[in-house]
Amino acid sequence: MENREAPIAVFDSGLGGVSVLRELIRIMPNEDFYYFGDSKHAPYGTKSAQQVRQMTIMHTQRFIAMGAKGVVIACNTATSAAVRRLRQMYPALPLVGIEPAVKPAAERYPQGNILVMATPITIREAKLQHLIERFGGDANIIPLACPGLMDFVEAGNIDSPEVYGFLRDILEPYQGKLDGVVLGCTHYPFVSKTITRILGTDVEIFDGGPGTAKEMKRRLEEAGLLRQNTQIQGKINFENSDKSQQKKELFYKLLNY
Ligand code: DGL
Repeated sequence: MENREAPIAVFDSGLGGVSVLRELIRIMPNEDFYYFGDSKHAPYGTKSAQQVRQMTIMHTQRFIAMGAKGVVIACNTATSAAVRRLRQMYPALPLVGIEPAVKPAAERYPQGNILVMATPITIREAKLQHLIERFGGDANIIPLACPGLMDFVEAGNIDSPEVYGFLRDILEPYQGKLDGVVLGCTHYPFVSKTITRILGTDVEIFDGGPGTAKEMKRRLEEAGLLRQNTQIQGKINFENSDKSQQKKELFYKLLNY
């Protein structure tokens, strides 16, 4: 496993983690990535935390058995359900999860109104509560569960009147009242333009993807596991539990979105 040439595994319940993968590629273009999406069993966010924990652990075990030198849990839902357990199981592994960007949002708007959009599990789990207590300060943090939103992205439906209608219905009560929106699910960056259309351009959008990618790079660097040859162009290997051509095509479409 101590192999600089080994790939970095990136995991999500489906294709949302591609929003994190593109940040990883941007800052580590020489590295190989293995992206696994579990679209067949998505959405995770409406399951029980225990189910999500079991599935996430099972997939991570496979990535490690394949020889991955690091693992990114590019799913807020899987992170909130499983990352603590995974850290106990693999203390030496560079393992990074994604969590809602409450900290940067509250730092930027210390007295502000900040909406956290995420899946029902992420909203319910203690991890978000801890984040708010620890970093929320005096900001007014408003958690909003958005069941159903990820399904649009999984279907490749990211810029349609239906997505607009769905988002308008859930966001209308907050129009004119917000300073920031935290995208607490890796599928949501793909609909952020529509969110901005509804809430206006002065509402700032916070995405945890770039910070997560930076943290993975830091961890690999610290462990001496970054590739040394900067002439190499990294390869991207994609796999999905849903073997359809649609998922494959959508993966590349989102990667270049
Ligand atoms: N992409 C996932 C996240 O970041 C969740 C989507 C799902 O419900 O499966 O939370």
